[in-house]
Amino acid sequence: DKGNHRHFMEKEIYEQPEVISHALSAYIDFIGNKVSPAATAIDFSGVPSLAISACGTAYLAGVIGKYWFERYARLPVEADVASEFRYRNIPLPKEAAAFFISQSGETADTLASLRYCREQGLTIGAVVNTRESTIARESDAIFPILAGPEIGVASTKAFTCQLTVLAAMAIGAGRMRGVLSEAEEQALVRHLAEMPRLMASVLRSVQPQMEGLARELSRCRDVLYLGRGTSYPLAMEGALKLKEISYIHAEGYAAGELKHGPIALIDENMPVIVIAPYDRFFEKTVSNMQEVAARGGKIVFITDEKGASACDLATLATIVLPSVDELIQPMIFSLPIQLLAYHTAVFMGTDVDQPRNLAKSVTVE
Ligand code: F6R
Repeated sequence: DKGNHRHFMEKEIYEQPEVISHALSAYIDFIGNKVSPAATAIDFSGVPSLAISACGTAYLAGVIGKYWFERYARLPVEADVASEFRYRNIPLPKEAAAFFISQSGETADTLASLRYCREQGLTIGAVVNTRESTIARESDAIFPILAGPEIGVASTKAFTCQLTVLAAMAIGAGRMRGVLSEAEEQALVRHLAEMPRLMASVLRSVQPQMEGLARELSRCRDVLYLGRGTSYPLAMEGALKLKEISYIHAEGYAAGELKHGPIALIDENMPVIVIAPYDRFFEKTVSNMQEVAARGGKIVFITDEKGASACDLATLATIVLPSVDELIQPMIFSLPIQLLAYHTAVFMGTDVDQPRNLAKSVTVE
């Protein structure tokens, strides 16, 4: 049932404040401001490294998770697409842990990667939406993302729920490894707890601007997304979302890679969507934006209040989100990115919930 929405994808985008609340209730203890035992089902204290394997959007959630486990738990992480991971014969110590992220829990390549890690003797964690799935069944620890059924082929709420669970797990790992203090854990958990309220307000505030921008994007053949830090995997997710439902060619790039190739594409016909909250990378990303502007590129600047006041570059559009802690930026910044892809596809008249050639669950290689 789509309720008042035109598509399941739209409904699922707007459900995010609610489903994120559910995920938070399971993974954080709001009274003690700490992560719950559900987030610490794997003992990370003596684990030498973490391998993450998944496909598509779930893989991009894994890349963001990698940044968090490295930062908050000082744990070396490799994140790979499962179709490559499964065949590389990767040397992995049996003391290591491996996560498999999958909305459906049935993706063939992800399952094959899991089985490879099982043979190597690793501790296996499944970050899944479906508890009764094969990937969940074959794991040592299950981390349900609690997103509820996701019907739209393009993943939206499963992505932000995957991120929420991974964030809680990274904080838990940081405590177990003695990297985060109790006070640091509390501060991070408080930021997570703010997400439902922030998401609800962002969904309300950015909607009209996204519809206007979608009209512009629907006239383009190519779109480039740029970001640094966790905004880099988010840039790739933005590009994936746009291409899969609007069929417009889009690419996500690390902002620092611009001058190593993609800058050759910049002209007035290719919009560049720059995801740049006011974080420790902001100045660097703004200088990449200047390079785009100097070549006549049209910029869609997705930033926060501090970022908007710190940069006076002329843009096609500037989307201003609330300034939030770095930990929750990927979840908050996902919203305009999802809405932009959604409205562009609606504008172009494609089948948003059932894009051509795609299946919700990919159980063959
Ligand atoms: C993109 C999308 C796909 C899936 C991928 C993995 O919007 O939905 O890229 O993320 O096919 O599927 P699961 O998570 O079921 O393993």
